[in-house]
Amino acid sequence: MACGFRRSIACQLSRVLDLPPENLIKSISAVPISRKEEVADFQLSVDSLLENNNDHSRPDTQVQARKLAEKLKCDSVVSEISTGQGTVNFKINRELLTKTVLQQVIKDGSKYGLKSELFSGLPQKKIVVEFSSPNIAKKFHVGHLRSTIIGNFIANLKEALGHQVTRINYLGDWGMQFGLLGTGFQLFGYEEKLQSSPLQHLFERLGVHFDEYSGESFYREKSQEVLKLLDSKGLLQKTIKGTAIVDLSGNGDPSSICTLMRSDGTSLYATRDLAAAIDRMDKYNFDTMIYVTDKGQKKHFQQVFQMLQIMGYDWAERCQHVPFGVVQGMKTRKGDVTFLEDVLNEIRLRMLQNMASLKTTKVLENPQETAERVGLAALIIQDFKGLLLSDYQFSWDRVFQSRGDTGVFLQYTHARLHSLEETFGCGYLNDFNTACLQEPQSVSILQHLLRFDEVLYRSSQDLQPRHIVSYLLTLSHLAGMAHKTLYVKDGPPEVAGARLHLFRAVRSVLANGMKLLGITPVCRM
Ligand code: ARG
Repeated sequence: MACGFRRSIACQLSRVLDLPPENLIKSISAVPISRKEEVADFQLSVDSLLENNNDHSRPDTQVQARKLAEKLKCDSVVSEISTGQGTVNFKINRELLTKTVLQQVIKDGSKYGLKSELFSGLPQKKIVVEFSSPNIAKKFHVGHLRSTIIGNFIANLKEALGHQVTRINYLGDWGMQFGLLGTGFQLFGYEEKLQSSPLQHLFERLGVHFDEYSGESFYREKSQEVLKLLDSKGLLQKTIKGTAIVDLSGNGDPSSICTLMRSDGTSLYATRDLAAAIDRMDKYNFDTMIYVTDKGQKKHFQQVFQMLQIMGYDWAERCQHVPFGVVQGMKTRKGDVTFLEDVLNEIRLRMLQNMASLKTTKVLENPQETAERVGLAALIIQDFKGLLLSDYQFSWDRVFQSRGDTGVFLQYTHARLHSLEETFGCGYLNDFNTACLQEPQSVSILQHLLRFDEVLYRSSQDLQPRHIVSYLLTLSHLAGMAHKTLYVKDGPPEVAGARLHLFRAVRSVLANGMKLLGITPVCRM
C-alpha cells in the first residue's frame, strides 16, 4: 500500500537521482485532500530529498523541483507530473488508482495500511506495555481510565504492526492484605476482586486484556535485593534520618535525589519499580518497555530510568514513559464523583436518552450494549483528539454531539454504511466499473483511503492517536457528503455496484481505525 504507488514513483526517481528507491519512499507522501481544489495524489518534497543528501547548501527548492520534474516522465502508473511549492506532484492513472485502492482495501481487510511499503523491513520487536495500573485499595479514577484507553491503543497499534506485545497491569497494592499472602493466592485474589468490579466490565467493552497482572507487593523481596545491589555498587547513601537515597544530581538536575528505603528498612514506590523493571527484563527480554501514566509521574520515571542506567543496565534506554494530561470537569449529574462506575453509568444513561430522541434510531436488540459502545466511542474520541500530554476540559454535551467531531458521529457513520450494505447486499460487488467512480467526491474518498498507511505510520512514530482520529473524522465527513449525492438506489446496476464498493471500502477502513483506537463499531444505532 499506498498500493505500491510510492514504490513505483520511487523507482523512477531513483534512476534520475541515482539513489536507492528505499531511501526515497518516505519522502513521497499522499497529498491530503482539500475542500477547495482538486489535488494531486502524491508529492515529493524536495526539502526532504536534500536532507537525504546531506546537502546543506539548500538551493532554491522551487527551481530544484522544476528541474527534477523535467527529467521525469509519465508512464502507465503516473499520468501527470507537476510542481508546487518545493514539491513535485504526481497524479496516478485514475482507473488504476480506483481499482488498486478498492481491491487492496478488500483484499487486505484488517491489515489494510499495515502492509504498506512504509512498514517494510520493520524489525519485529518484543514490546512490554504497562498500563491501567489502578490502586486496589482506592477507587479507580479518571487518570486510570485514561491510562487504560491510551495503553490499550498503543498495545493494539504495536500488535497490528506485527510486534510481540505483552500487556501488564501493575496494581498499586502496597499495604493491602492481599500483598501479605502467598503469590499464587495473591494473584487469584486480585482477579476475583477485579472480576466483580466495574473495572472488569470496562475491560470487556473496550476489549482490553492483560497478559500479566502483577502488583507492587509482588516485589517486596526483590526490592530488598535491589537495595543490596545498589549498596554493593556504592550508590546507596544513608541519611541521618536512617533512610537511604540515591544521588542523581550528576544527571543534569542538581536537586535530583531519590529515596529508596524508609528508616524501617522497607522499600518505596521507586524501589519497587526498579525491581519490577529488572524482573520484566529477565522474563521478557524486551526491546521496548512503555509505561503509560499521568504526567505527574514524569520525574519518577526519569529517576527510575537513570538509576537503572547507573546500576549498569544498558537496556534502561529501552524504557519509555508515555505521559498524559489531566482531565478537568468530568462530573456526573449527581456531583463531581469521577469514579469509573459513575462514568460508565452516566455514559449508558446519556446515550440511551440520546438514542431515544433521535428520529433515526432503529429498534435495537440490545440497546444497553449499543448505548455503551457508542458512549465509550464518544469518550475515547474526546480523549484522543488532542495531544495526550495536554490537559482538557471535559464536557458531556460536547462528547455526545452526533454531528460534531465526536465518537458518536463515527459510530453513526459506521452504522449507516453498514445498513447500506445490508439493504443492497453484496450481489453487486463481484465486478465493478472503475469509470463509474470518477466524480470529485469519489476521487476524494479514494485519495483519502490512499493516506491511511501514512497516518498509521505517524501514530506509530509518536504514539499519538490524534492522527488516526482526525483521519477517521475526515473519512466520515467525506462519507456523509458522498452519501447525499452518490445514490445507490434506482441507478444503473453498474453505477450502484461501483458506489457500493466504494462505501464498503470506507466502512472497512473506518472499522479498522476505530478498532485500533479501542472502539467496537456498532452496526445499528
Ligand atoms: N498505581 C500507580 C498510581 O495509581 C500507577 C503505577 C504506574 N506504574 C508504575 N510502574 N509505577 O499512581
